[in-house]
Amino acid sequence: LVINLQEKGAEVAPSMYGIFFEEINHAGDGGLYAELVKNRSFEELEMPEGYYAEGDILHPKEVCNHLTGEVRHGSFRWTTEPVPGWTLQTGENSSAEMKLTKENPKFQSAPNSLKVTIKDASTPVRLVNGGYWGMNLVKDDSYLLRAILRTSADYKGKITALLLSDTDEVLALAPVEVDGSGSWNDVRQTLRPSATAAKGKLALEFDGTGTVSLDYVSLFPEKTFRDRPNGLRNDVAEMLNGLHPAFVRWPGGCVVEGISLENRFEWKKTLGDPASRSGEYSTWGYRCSYGFGYHEMLQFCEDINADAMFVCNVGLGCQYRMGDASPESKIAYYLDDCMDAIEYALGDVTTEWGAKRAAQGHPQAFPLKYVEIGNENWGDEYDKRFDIFYQAIKEKYPELILISNHGLGGTGKIAKTDMIDPHWYVNPEFFFQNTTIFDSHPRGKYDAYVGEYACNADVGGGNMRAALSEAAFISGMERNGDLVKMASYAPLLENRNDRSWAVNLIWLDTDQVLGRSSYYVQQMAAENRPTYNVKSNLTMGTPQPLEYEAGRFGFGSWNTQVEFKDVKVTEEDGTAVNLDLNSVADKKGAWMLENGVLSQASLETPTRYIVDGFSGNRYTLECQVRKVGGHEGFFLY
Ligand code: AHR
Repeated sequence: LVINLQEKGAEVAPSMYGIFFEEINHAGDGGLYAELVKNRSFEELEMPEGYYAEGDILHPKEVCNHLTGEVRHGSFRWTTEPVPGWTLQTGENSSAEMKLTKENPKFQSAPNSLKVTIKDASTPVRLVNGGYWGMNLVKDDSYLLRAILRTSADYKGKITALLLSDTDEVLALAPVEVDGSGSWNDVRQTLRPSATAAKGKLALEFDGTGTVSLDYVSLFPEKTFRDRPNGLRNDVAEMLNGLHPAFVRWPGGCVVEGISLENRFEWKKTLGDPASRSGEYSTWGYRCSYGFGYHEMLQFCEDINADAMFVCNVGLGCQYRMGDASPESKIAYYLDDCMDAIEYALGDVTTEWGAKRAAQGHPQAFPLKYVEIGNENWGDEYDKRFDIFYQAIKEKYPELILISNHGLGGTGKIAKTDMIDPHWYVNPEFFFQNTTIFDSHPRGKYDAYVGEYACNADVGGGNMRAALSEAAFISGMERNGDLVKMASYAPLLENRNDRSWAVNLIWLDTDQVLGRSSYYVQQMAAENRPTYNVKSNLTMGTPQPLEYEAGRFGFGSWNTQVEFKDVKVTEEDGTAVNLDLNSVADKKGAWMLENGVLSQASLETPTRYIVDGFSGNRYTLECQVRKVGGHEGFFLY
């Protein structure tokens, strides 16, 4: 190998590593967004216009696919819960019922409320919310309750807010005062649990008869990321911040387009008082609250020093699903919607949408730098719309970088784009064998943003081999840094109770967050981004699938010294495997053992790995790993 330090190769852009956020797998609600109450606005049974439910199946409106001309049908996940998230508990000596209603709403934009009619409260009646598979309540931390409710004139009892453990032990209580006028009361209270419960609950307890109507019930930890109101879970946001993202892409992903246009993501509905936000039934099988909205995303970008990327809808429903297209006459509507989003982020306070941002407490502009025009759209109809959007946005905002959905295969019929956005969800062999995929791609017309990529095929829920193959692919992107200027792994987050996409970067539960091996690949790449490549004459030969090459796996480090202890490897039947620690040349950094590929830990046993042996054997590896010096992070290989 000859390295000529004088011969500079491609530079690697500071924008290279970013993150892709989409409301999928409960990434936002029940994930990054700190709200603890599920279905806080009682809107979850609202369905997109023209859709209908049969049991637990939701059928979208039948539409004509614009690429094929066929009429498409579909079925998606629905719920049979009468009031999702909420249960009414009556004691032996009480009786009550609950019903959703649109009568006299507090907000026309979020019209549903819950009417609880208590007929007998000889033992108190409780309306209970279990959160997103539990609420993490931490001893002595403060929790902020907001309830918008009203009572009938004849309701004479008290209303009490309770924080409960999973076994219904009362951890905190506070009165909820309502004036009895029949108008909506907006009540705030602070609760401090006396003990920690990772699967806690919130209840409203009624000890009188009559009617109580609830429009909104929200519970937030007082401590959120950077203390933002309507903010983010600290541990999850810190995990994202740990990737040092240069940019954040939002809101997706397929949610941008919707199953059909009826349930596309509508950023304008994500603004303002969270209680007034309707949310939307998301492409991924549940209704999202729109709580982590456009303003919150822009604020998050500012807080972590990242640039924002907004993905707009061009009037096309998801082409993998219904694939409807708005009529030609409505393209202007979608364009205006996108222009308004840009103005909301960048416009000064004299502009209509800049003023709305200022009214939310942020007079200065937000760091919006990129707009992706459509998500995973293709075909002539898309190309036509892309040109219209590109021209109009460039004219008004020449500084913005505009991205098209085209991949390496060509840019169809469009006139010009600043960046293309190829996506890869593939098996490890693809990444190992395609580290040179960008080498001969033509330069000069546009840059590339690899907006979604992950090894998610043939790797179960994701494993070490997957992570390694991503690392190999990343090396190809960096070497071609004159073309590839940005990349984001996808999807980003998974609540362990709702895996709607096979492999995701970060797993979480109410009180735990875990970065899979791929997370540490992303982190390692971002933390060690080279300024430029140095040319060398090393040739790799034809890459072979990993199975033929490796007979070993191990732990190692990247600019880090780590210490391992209590290392235990067992075969499936429990037989211990002998470790030959002496065969390792450099004992500081790594040790090796024979035969296998690590797959992932679980949230319960984050120091435990399953090893799929190449020979077909399965091993379990358990160890303690500790960083003892050097740079952040260690790497498993
Ligand atoms: O990342 C999951 C999905 O994959 C995205 O929503 C979509 O853009 C792609 O098909």
